[in-house]
Amino acid sequence: MTAFSYPTYRNLPPLAGLGSFEEAAKPGLGVEESVDRIKRYHFAFKRLMQILEARLTAEPVYELKMAFSLHAHYCAEHCTSMRERVAEMRTPPLGLEKIPHQHLATFFQEIQNAPTTEELVMGVYEFAFPALLKGLQRHVVETNVLSDHPSVRICRFAALELDEVVTYGRQAVAALVSEERLSAMKPWRDWLRSLLDAAGDLDGSQPQADLSHPEGAPCYSQQPLPYDKLPRRDDRFPDPYNMGVHAEEFLYDPRFQSRDKTLMMYYKRLREIDVPEMMATILTETQDKPWAYYRDMTRQLWDEARHAMMGEVGFVKLGIDWPKQVMVNFTWSLGLNTQLKPWERHAVLYFIEQGLMTKTGKRFEWEVGADSGDELSKVFQDYDWADEVLHARIGRDWYVSAFGDQKEAIDFGSQCWSKVLSNWNAWKEEGKTDHRNWWPGLYASFCERQGIQPDPEALKFATTYEATRADLEKLAASA
Ligand SMILES: [Fe+2]
Ligand SMILES: [Fe+2]
Repeated sequence: MTAFSYPTYRNLPPLAGLGSFEEAAKPGLGVEESVDRIKRYHFAFKRLMQILEARLTAEPVYELKMAFSLHAHYCAEHCTSMRERVAEMRTPPLGLEKIPHQHLATFFQEIQNAPTTEELVMGVYEFAFPALLKGLQRHVVETNVLSDHPSVRICRFAALELDEVVTYGRQAVAALVSEERLSAMKPWRDWLRSLLDAAGDLDGSQPQADLSHPEGAPCYSQQPLPYDKLPRRDDRFPDPYNMGVHAEEFLYDPRFQSRDKTLMMYYKRLREIDVPEMMATILTETQDKPWAYYRDMTRQLWDEARHAMMGEVGFVKLGIDWPKQVMVNFTWSLGLNTQLKPWERHAVLYFIEQGLMTKTGKRFEWEVGADSGDELSKVFQDYDWADEVLHARIGRDWYVSAFGDQKEAIDFGSQCWSKVLSNWNAWKEEGKTDHRNWWPGLYASFCERQGIQPDPEALKFATTYEATRADLEKLAASA
């Protein structure tokens, strides 16, 4: 009888199902080695979250903004598990803020400063995420499945989601980077590879190679990219200054039917693309908060991206060509990002979100969805409302807590919002937009597709944002 033919009671699976005795009897990684590797995953998750957030606002492609939001959220969540695991492993002080290896720091700096979308996507999805995934998979295989089981567990969970990210990334690179660009990037790609090799791979498990900077390779880590917080959009957003259709005035007007209001709600949801564009700048420009702040705010950022995609799905399901018929603007993120400090932007966000908790807020939108006969709208508003309750909690923890009471916090938010100049007329005069009323066209085609009679009153709706802001507060300039 070899040691490994040792029988369990009635051949029950051994070791609670974790694996065989043979596997569990391989010593694997010691605590120090395991912690060192986990600190590297932690660093990689944190840097990737920061990079995706720093690049989200100015990235024009809508799908990439959405993917950056999701992937930043995954990174924030797994970074959290890695932090917690390090804290369990006899290592105080934790040293989580320390850079685990200089070449790894340079590697992420190269990607953060990549000047084009193609290079950014290449660095993030062809190098960083796959290297991180490889490290996590290696950890699961190399460590002791029994003694280091808590690490195995979090690495396995993280690998599950990173596998999805890597698959997405491969497709994104194939879609966005031409063969020609790919070969033009070769020296930089070799440089990224060399940085990883010189760090002993991302997880530090391999021998460290000599660093070599290939001929003709750029060195973006030495060329800081100025932080760009101007929101940009791709060409499916042809009229980004258009404030010609006041969604809230329509939604709260009792003359209109729920059936028609769902259409306006899909617009409101899709327009929420401006919330990640704004929140990403708060996250990027706010340093030195406890880690939980970044995790919570990144979760909310992802929720807002989801809300935008719920609007997109709504239009797609209705067969509406939204880029042609719905003018989704960026005036809110533009105004906040350029006119307010990060803390003031957070104040406006909280002010708006606490307003959404009132009778005319998220419950109302859900009631409209429920009453409309559009089951999808009902379900989307149901989750939108649930998400908002979470966001109110996040706002209390990270914003209201800085004030004496909630009223003070709300008043400050309203003041900050009033400071943001809406340049309704200026944009018109400068020819940036003519605030075209796109609603009747959208509404008419919706009715036609649905085979329903348009409500003549709804068809005539022509209220703009010239005189009131989204909470129906009169704008000072036109009061
Ligand atoms: Fe939202
Ligand atoms: Fe929200």
